[in-house]
Amino acid sequence: MAADDVLLEIEDLRTHFLLDDGVVCAVDGVDLRVRKGETLAIVGESGCGKSVMARSILRLVDPPGQIEGGKITLHRESGPVELVGADRKLLRQIRWNDIAMVFQEPMASLSLVHTIGSQIVEAVRLHENVGKAAARNRAIEMLDRVGIPMPQRRVDAYPFELSGGMRQRAMIAMALACRPSLLIADEPTTALDVTTQAQILELLRDLQDEFGMAIMLITHDLGVAAQVADSMAVMYLGRVVEYGGAEQVLAEPRHPYTKALLRSMPRLGRAARTRLTAIKGMVPPPYARPEGCAFHPRCDAVMAGRCDTVLPRRVPLREPVGDREVTCLLYEEES
Ligand SMILES: Nc1ncnc2c1ncn2[C@@H]1O[C@H](COP(=O)(O)OP(=O)(O)OP(=O)(O)O)[C@@H](O)[C@H]1O
Ligand SMILES: [Mg+2]
Repeated sequence: MAADDVLLEIEDLRTHFLLDDGVVCAVDGVDLRVRKGETLAIVGESGCGKSVMARSILRLVDPPGQIEGGKITLHRESGPVELVGADRKLLRQIRWNDIAMVFQEPMASLSLVHTIGSQIVEAVRLHENVGKAAARNRAIEMLDRVGIPMPQRRVDAYPFELSGGMRQRAMIAMALACRPSLLIADEPTTALDVTTQAQILELLRDLQDEFGMAIMLITHDLGVAAQVADSMAVMYLGRVVEYGGAEQVLAEPRHPYTKALLRSMPRLGRAARTRLTAIKGMVPPPYARPEGCAFHPRCDAVMAGRCDTVLPRRVPLREPVGDREVTCLLYEEES
C-alpha cells in the first residue's frame, strides 16, 4: 500500500529490448516511488537504464523495446491508475496533464515546422476546454514565466530561431502549460553551458514551488543532484541499488556502488587537484548481466560465493534520518 504522499509508484518494472543477438535487459526490476511535490534525482553511469525507465512511465519506449512486467501506479486525486496496462486514450489524458516530460535535446520533442506558441496551444487545447485566444494567452504567460524575453513576439518563433537555452525553456513552458503533477526531466541541462544550466535548474525549482509539482530529475551529474534533489535513487544495470534522502545518500552512501560513484566525482570542498578514483572495470554490456549482484565484478567489498550467485533484495535500513533502502547482500544479514 502506498503512503498518502506517494504520487507515482513503480514496482518490479522490466523493460527489455529483444534484439537479434540477445535480449537487452535495460530495466530489470526497478522499484521506486516519487512523493508529491518532491524532487527525486535518478543517478547512475551511462547505460544503466535511466532513460528507458523514464520513458517506460509514459510508454514512450519504441520497439524492439517492450515492458515485460511490473506495475506503474499514478495516484491521482480521483484515485490510482495503472499505467503499464493503460489504453491509449488514458495515456493521452495523462501525458502533459498529469505527467510531462522534458528531454536533453528539446529539438527531439519540439516540432520543427510549427511555432513554439502553436505547439503549446495545441497541448493546452488537447486537455482543456479553452478557446484559441485563451490558450494563446496561456502560452505567452508560460513563456514569460520561464524567462523568455518578449514572449508576445517569441510565441510566433520557430524552434530553430531560438538558442539552446531558450529552446529548453520553451520546452519547459510547454511541459508545464497543463500544470502536471509530475515533471520528468531527462538530463534537461546536460547540453547547456554551466551558467545556463544553473539558470534552468533554478527555474525548475521556482516553478516547482509555484505549481507544487513533483520532479523526477535524471542526471549523471551528482553535483546537480546535490543542488536540487530531496530524494535520490542510484541505478546500476537496470535496477535501483540505493534509495534515500539526497543529503543522506551523498553524505553517507551505503551501497559499494554509490560509494565508488561518489569517489569518482569531483566534489565541492575537496581540495583542488586531488586525484579522482575511477570505478574499476567497465559497465558490462546489458545482455551479459553478471549472475548474482550485477555489480559484483567491480565491487571492492565482494563476498566470494555469495555476491556472484545470490540476487540481492531491497533491504530497508534503519537510519538516523529518513528512509534508506540498499540492494546489497552486505546488508541482508543486518536486517
Ligand atoms: N532502442 C534501443 N535498442 C537497443 N538497446 C537500447 C535501446 N535504447 C536503449 N538501449 C539500451 O538500454 C540500456 C539502457 O539505456 P538508457 O538510455 O536507459 O541508459 P541511460 O542510463 O539513460 O544512459 P545515459 O546516461 O547515457 O543517458 C543501454 O544498454 C542501451 O544500450
Ligand atoms: Mg539517458
